[in-house]
Amino acid sequence: MNSNELIPVNTPLLDGNEKKYLNECIDTGWISSEGPFIKEFEEKFASKMGRKYGIAVSNGSVALDAAVIALGLTRGDEVIMPTFTIICCASAITRVGAIPVLVDSDPFTWNMDISKIEEKITPRTKAIMVVHIYGLPVEMDAVIDLSKKYNIKIIEDAAEQHGQHYKGKPVGSFGDISCFSFYPNKHITTGEGGMIATDDPELAQRCKSLRNLCFKSERRFVHDELGYNYRMTNIQAALGLAQLERMDQFIQKKRRIGEIYNQLLSEVKGLQLNLAKTEYADSIYWVYAIVLKDEIPFDASEAINRLDKIGVGARPFFWCMHEQPVFVKMGLFSGEKYPIAENIARRGFYIPSGLGLTEEQIVTAAERFKTIF
Ligand SMILES: Cc1ncc(COP(=O)(O)O)c(C=O)c1O
Repeated sequence: MNSNELIPVNTPLLDGNEKKYLNECIDTGWISSEGPFIKEFEEKFASKMGRKYGIAVSNGSVALDAAVIALGLTRGDEVIMPTFTIICCASAITRVGAIPVLVDSDPFTWNMDISKIEEKITPRTKAIMVVHIYGLPVEMDAVIDLSKKYNIKIIEDAAEQHGQHYKGKPVGSFGDISCFSFYPNKHITTGEGGMIATDDPELAQRCKSLRNLCFKSERRFVHDELGYNYRMTNIQAALGLAQLERMDQFIQKKRRIGEIYNQLLSEVKGLQLNLAKTEYADSIYWVYAIVLKDEIPFDASEAINRLDKIGVGARPFFWCMHEQPVFVKMGLFSGEKYPIAENIARRGFYIPSGLGLTEEQIVTAAERFKTIF
C-alpha cells in the first residue's frame, strides 16, 4: 500500500449476484416497490432472522417510526431505551408524543445496562426499546423477564447486528417488533433501506399499511388514517437479496477483522478494545470500536484528527440522548446524568472495518494507529 493512501472507515462489498439482479430490474422494468424482489427479500430475510414476517422499508429510521406507531404508542406513554444510541431511536418515540426514559450503558459491552431498567419502570411504561450496539447483543433474557413481569412490549433495534445471535437465536427475533437498517456500513446493504420483522400478523399488516399511505383495501385512494411512503424499491431489494446470500461469509469476515485488530492492538496501553465475547455471544464487530482509558491524555476527537493526518478513517461514537441540544430544547432529560455513556461518547471511536477492506488495509490501519500513542 502507498504510505499515505487513505484507509476508509467503510467500503461495502458488492461482488456477488448484485449486478445480475440489478440488471434483471432494468431488463424487466421492475424498478418500483411493486417488483418481485421485494417479496423474495422480505421472506428470505425474515426467515434468516427467525421471524414470520418481514416488511421492507426505505431505511432503518423509518422502520423504528413505523414500529412505534404500529404498537400504538402515544402521548404520555413511556419507553425505556439506552441514552447511548443514534437519535432516530428517541425521535421515533418523541414524534408520537411518547417519552423516552433513558438508561446508562454497560461499561464493557456499551449496550444498555440491563440492571438499571427495572428502576425506570412506572405504570406509564409501555415498551422497552432494546438497541444492540456495535458488536455484542443486549442480554435479552433479563429484558424478556421484565417485559413479561410488567406486561411491556419490546421493540428490538437490530440495525447493526443482522447475523448476530444471542444464545444461539438470531438477534432481531426477540422483539414484539424488530427493526433493521441496510445502510452501506451494515452487514448487508441495499444502499439505503430497512426492514421491520415480527411474528404477529396484525402488527405486520399494520406496518404494511403504514408503509404505503394506509390505502383502504376495498377502495384505493380512500384512507381512514394517514400513512407514509416508506416503500423500498425493487432495485434496493435486488441488492439486498444478493447480499443476504452471502451474509454468513460477511459475518466471518467481520470476525476476522476483529481478530486482526485484537491481536495487533492488544499491546497498546490505555485502550479499551472492542470486547471479543460475553457468556452469551461472540462479537460480530459491526465496527471495530475503541474507548480511550483515562490514562490517555486526549479524547476521541483528538484521536480522530491524528488518525486523519496519517490516512486512517475513523468516526466518533454516538452522542448521548440526554445531551442532545434538540431534546434539551424540548425540555427533556433535565439534570439527568449517565456517567458511563457520557464517558464512552467522549472517548470512543471506531476505525476502518468495512467489508470491502482487504486484510492488508486492516493490518496497515493497525500499524498506523499504533503510531499516534
Ligand atoms: C442502532 C441504529 N438504529 C437505527 C439506525 C438507522 O438506520 P438508517 O441509517 O438506515 O436510517 C442506525 C443507523 O446506523 C443504527 O445504528
